[in-house]
Amino acid sequence: MNQNSNMTSLIMIFGATGDLAKRKLFPSLYRLFESKRLSEKFAVIGVARRPLSNDEFQASVKESIQSALKKDENIDEFASHFYYHSHDVTDSGSYQSLKKLANELDGHYGLEGNRIFYLAMAPEFFGTIALHLKSDGLTDVSGFKRLVIEKPFGHNLESAKELNRQITTAFSEDEVYRIDHYLGKEMVRNIEVIRFANAIFEPLWNNRYISNIQITSSETLGVEERGRYYEKSGALRDMVQNHMMQMVSLLAMEPPIKLTTDDVRAEKVRVFRSIRAVEGEKINDYFIRGQYAEGIMDGSEVPKYRDEPMVDKESNTETFVAGKIMIDNFRWAGVPFYIRTGKRMEAKTTKIVVQFKDIPMNLYYQTEKVLNPNLLVIHIQPEEGITLHLNVKKEGGHLDATEVKLSYANTGVNGMNTPEGYEKLLFDCLRGDATNFTHWEEVALSWNMVDKISAVWEKTKEENFPNYASGSMGPKAADELLEKDGFFWWPVTDLDVDNCGCD
Ligand code: BG6
Repeated sequence: MNQNSNMTSLIMIFGATGDLAKRKLFPSLYRLFESKRLSEKFAVIGVARRPLSNDEFQASVKESIQSALKKDENIDEFASHFYYHSHDVTDSGSYQSLKKLANELDGHYGLEGNRIFYLAMAPEFFGTIALHLKSDGLTDVSGFKRLVIEKPFGHNLESAKELNRQITTAFSEDEVYRIDHYLGKEMVRNIEVIRFANAIFEPLWNNRYISNIQITSSETLGVEERGRYYEKSGALRDMVQNHMMQMVSLLAMEPPIKLTTDDVRAEKVRVFRSIRAVEGEKINDYFIRGQYAEGIMDGSEVPKYRDEPMVDKESNTETFVAGKIMIDNFRWAGVPFYIRTGKRMEAKTTKIVVQFKDIPMNLYYQTEKVLNPNLLVIHIQPEEGITLHLNVKKEGGHLDATEVKLSYANTGVNGMNTPEGYEKLLFDCLRGDATNFTHWEEVALSWNMVDKISAVWEKTKEENFPNYASGSMGPKAADELLEKDGFFWWPVTDLDVDNCGCD
């Protein structure tokens, strides 16, 4: 990690008229600017196909900030650093004129030849752009060059390898910043600290004391306008390959030797390598899929997935996945990591529940009921914090035990998926810290796992689709997946951070 690197940079955003740029990147850059974490020596070139003048582009930047943040102090000064380049991603001439503009701005702002290329656009162009950046000389710089690349990183292992081959002709692995926006979330970053900075957790963090870990990331929204993309992706590629597996790796990794990018990544990669390889028929014992039917949400009727725009009426695409991941190493042998994620579910929430094993003998069993196991709940969103579920003596009772919750609510004001996460990731990239970005090996190993699942799912049509009502917590099969191991999903909607004195 290079905390002190020079943050002077030219940032080129490919896809500057798109949704991501407007909703996340411009507001995040503005917040970095406002908090002086962005050097005054910076310039942004917005790159996109449609013709726009600098003035029009600057106006759209300002508008996106005002609408996302409801703020406009120093906004003219900030926006004056933004330039626009109308671009054809396949045409060398276009890259030549982009290079000319980049060189001019480099001189004008004293950017020391530092460049960040941010690909915030349709993934089919990622490879082409990277190849052109090299062949047209945009990567010949005297300072640093970094490539920030949004998901999806390929569609399967083979396409990911091809994309990686293309980008690594122009950028070395340590210059590639593959975004997983979950790694920008405050509480995802907190997993390591909770584990490695607390003497009471780390000794228990293994198969002797933990019975299972449950990770839920549920959404209330449907597929919205993204049917074309989602039909080919499904929840497996959209959420499991990246976000869910990243959370698994952070929960399961060994303590790194140091908090350097290489040390942290090496430990995460070891987790991916220890995941039990499941394929063929066996997949059905470990992973189940779902697709939402119509239902009532917030008092209004919502359509089934197959009736969403740009979705096939007979679609076999999954909008829900639940799975059991076994990590066959010394620490985790025998402990299932259950994951589930889906659209149109009962609540928008991401939570991790660490369930500890039952104590060897329950002295209080006869006086009340079976004791609740200790749980550590990590609240990722919308509320942020941790809750520890303990058993204590019931007040006034004889020796009855009852459950209490010790809660810590993060005081952060981050809303869901707000610019906050992107702000942290952009800041990391500016200072050259790639720890919270995904390394190629993590991507490849994760695709390897996902490909084996999709090979089975694509071959077999799921006759029961749609199999869960909008507004529910997913199909019955997701419950059965745990029941056959003697567990059940802790109802995440009842596990909110309470006793915290916060709203
Ligand atoms: C994105 C997926 O990566 O993550 C979306 O493409 C999903 O389909 C989103 O809605 C969820 O992110 P968050 O931060 O709202 O949990």
